[in-house]
Amino acid sequence: MEWWKKTIVFELYPKSFKDTTGTGNGDIRGIIEKLDYLKSLGVGAIWLTPTYCSPMKDNGYDIADYCSVDPSFGTMEDMDELFAEAKKRDIRLVMDLVFNHTSDKHPWFEASSASRENDKADWYIWRDPRPDGSAPNNWRGIFGGSAWEWCEARGQYYLHTFLTEQPDLNWENPEVRRALYDAARFWLDKGAGGFRLDAITYIKKPAVFEDGEPDAGDGLTGIHNATANTAGILDFLHEMRDNIRAGRDIFMVGEANGVGPQDLHDWVGSHGVFDMVFEFSHIGLEFRDYENWCRPQAWGPKELKRVLVDSLMATKEEGWNPIFTENHDKPRTVNHYFPDGCDTNKSARVGLMWLMTMRGTPFLYQGQEIGMTNVAWDRIEDYDDVLSIGQYELSLKDGFTKEEAIKGVQRYSRDSARTPMQWDDSINAGFSTVKPWLPVNENYVDLNVAGEEKDPDSVLAYYRRLMHARQTHEVMITGDFTEVLAEHEQIFGYIREAGGKKAVILMNFTDKEAVFDAAILTGLVPVINSEAMGAVEDKSYEKHLIVADEMIRKGKMAPLSAIWYETEITE
Ligand code: NOJ
Repeated sequence: MEWWKKTIVFELYPKSFKDTTGTGNGDIRGIIEKLDYLKSLGVGAIWLTPTYCSPMKDNGYDIADYCSVDPSFGTMEDMDELFAEAKKRDIRLVMDLVFNHTSDKHPWFEASSASRENDKADWYIWRDPRPDGSAPNNWRGIFGGSAWEWCEARGQYYLHTFLTEQPDLNWENPEVRRALYDAARFWLDKGAGGFRLDAITYIKKPAVFEDGEPDAGDGLTGIHNATANTAGILDFLHEMRDNIRAGRDIFMVGEANGVGPQDLHDWVGSHGVFDMVFEFSHIGLEFRDYENWCRPQAWGPKELKRVLVDSLMATKEEGWNPIFTENHDKPRTVNHYFPDGCDTNKSARVGLMWLMTMRGTPFLYQGQEIGMTNVAWDRIEDYDDVLSIGQYELSLKDGFTKEEAIKGVQRYSRDSARTPMQWDDSINAGFSTVKPWLPVNENYVDLNVAGEEKDPDSVLAYYRRLMHARQTHEVMITGDFTEVLAEHEQIFGYIREAGGKKAVILMNFTDKEAVFDAAILTGLVPVINSEAMGAVEDKSYEKHLIVADEMIRKGKMAPLSAIWYETEITE
């Protein structure tokens, strides 16, 4: 089995990880400093979100030079040292490739936008205005506002799926594609263990750019529905795979907005393009058709179970899934999948059971291992995230009040995942000696790595128990996946089975006790129980399991709790 199917990947957002230079921004030396900590989490690969030279309009997802390191993160020497130090610990670095767009400060765009006659003239997506001078069509960019921006020098508009400062590359031009593959090769030569391909479903545009039906008060229509996963995209992706992936011991994971379970057979597996794709149906349940943070669609555990299982079943014979419940663009797990206002210490544990026991490669997001939570700031001015600002404005245009709009932002802002890592209870949570670029979550005094390292009952201690069990119980890596209790309103349950071993995982996603038929556990013994040991005298985990088992055998699961039972390992 390939190494990346057996390991745990850690998603690291460098700007918020560890500042060693007193700038308020995290840096590469901060990552080097914490490599032993990452090793202690059982991590075999780090997905590093962009650290390339960038004007940072979208925190590095606006790249001005693919083969560089932004000075705010350090130097190329620091990066080389990070590669070397990670390698010593058997940790690979997975680079984030943003191939749908560049920064408007990338020399390619500076050349392209200077005139209609230059050797990069066709490297971006340029269109003439309509006869009245307005934008070529009514697409709304993902961060809000028109997806078109006027360029005086060319007398044309250019397309930007994301920010104005993130012009889309023209993938129809083979020179563009070659230049991007060269950038990937630069990092392969440094020893990259793989790539995460950003926004990759948007690289192919439709042949004709028509107006869409307005879907909000601004008269525009979301670009996503018009351009995501456009027919013909797979040809580009296969070529990319042949140039970057083929024959190398790396993995490629695509960020695949707009790809659903029904598409997975073309995207992953032996005839697919990627080793894994981030398929978002579970993480975007509230915005299936249209994204306005004030208008989330309601869902419950049953809907969540459905989409998770559909996605997994789509790769049952062929392919592999990344398991992920949060990332740098989404709310924290503890605040997303569980009842409002619930005990986040408990929900963190249920979320980690899910992450570490489904079939696939777990992608742990920084801070998830200690149960970091959302922030909820009161004013839109407090937020840094461009998507939050776009969503706030969209909500106002859609007729919501400021109070309603800010509530949506508090719930879904990307800043919640981006507040600085909570290392200890000292000033700025041990992240920096100066005011961080984004405020630290106030709960850092009680919720931080140092405190949790000392506490055998912490979320971190529980995570390590899960990680160790996963690494030593092969069934959790190689085992088949079969859902159980599919009709249950509260419990998400499944069996993992391989080589005569069977594990049963049950998770109660609600804040009410759940009743189930305990016959499902006959012949199995407890491996992990998510409940805190609390009163168990000497904090012996074995005793804790025995005490908790009594209740479980009666077919009762405590609110927000999770269990892992398994055929006894006798050898
Ligand atoms: C997806 C990235 O995860 C997100 O952070 C970024 O803003 C967009 N793609 C645009 O690159």
